[in-house]
Amino acid sequence: MRRIAFWSPKGGVGKTTLALNFAASAYYAGHKVIVCDLDPQQSAVDIFNENQLPFSVVPNMPQVMPNVDFLICDYAPSMDLLPTEETIILPMRASILDLKSVGRITRLLRNKRIIKCVNGIDTRRQDERMIGMQLYSEGAQLIKDRSIYVSSMGKGQTVFQQKSYGSKDAQGEINRLLHRVLNPKA
Ligand SMILES: Nc1ncnc2c1ncn2[C@@H]1O[C@H](COP(=O)(O)OP(=O)(O)OP(=O)(O)O)[C@@H](O)[C@H]1O
Ligand SMILES: [Mg+2]
Repeated sequence: MRRIAFWSPKGGVGKTTLALNFAASAYYAGHKVIVCDLDPQQSAVDIFNENQLPFSVVPNMPQVMPNVDFLICDYAPSMDLLPTEETIILPMRASILDLKSVGRITRLLRNKRIIKCVNGIDTRRQDERMIGMQLYSEGAQLIKDRSIYVSSMGKGQTVFQQKSYGSKDAQGEINRLLHRVLNPKA
């Protein structure tokens, strides 16, 4: 079983959105998945309760480990609870402040595999494109700013359950994140 954390001490960077879409990517690729919502806000559980997701979201870490391929943990935005999972997806924004803080943040997580994920990039903005490209050259994954991420969550679903404009591109970028997790040298 692979244990994946979506963690960042920063709020609103896309932990929950990416955790649920990553889970859907893995599910539709044929893996058994479960999402653990470790955030007291319980946003992922709220989405799950709309009964549109094809996998389960549980409100805590299960006492007995389930028989799944992926245990995906959606963390609260906090420094107090550092992730224990072996792979950490670290969502961040394409901002100069995030760029400055990311080194300090990753030093907290020694001996972990960290995949930086620059999320919500507005490609019309040169500053965001440049920060995105810099981090990409250093091995980060890029996820664009797309309304399909917002509208699908509004329906209690993921981009993998959508057919409207932008859904295929969004699925592609989340699938690339899954590929990266499955292939450490990719
Ligand atoms: N790639 C994206 N494109 C457009 N909107 C996005 C994208 N990723 C996330 N969002 C939006 O950004 C907002 C914050 O996302 P989300 O709740 O997933 O962040 P979070 O890190 O889990 O927040 P918190 O720290 O409060 O738990 C939401 O409104 C979500 O729909
Ligand atoms: Mg969240």
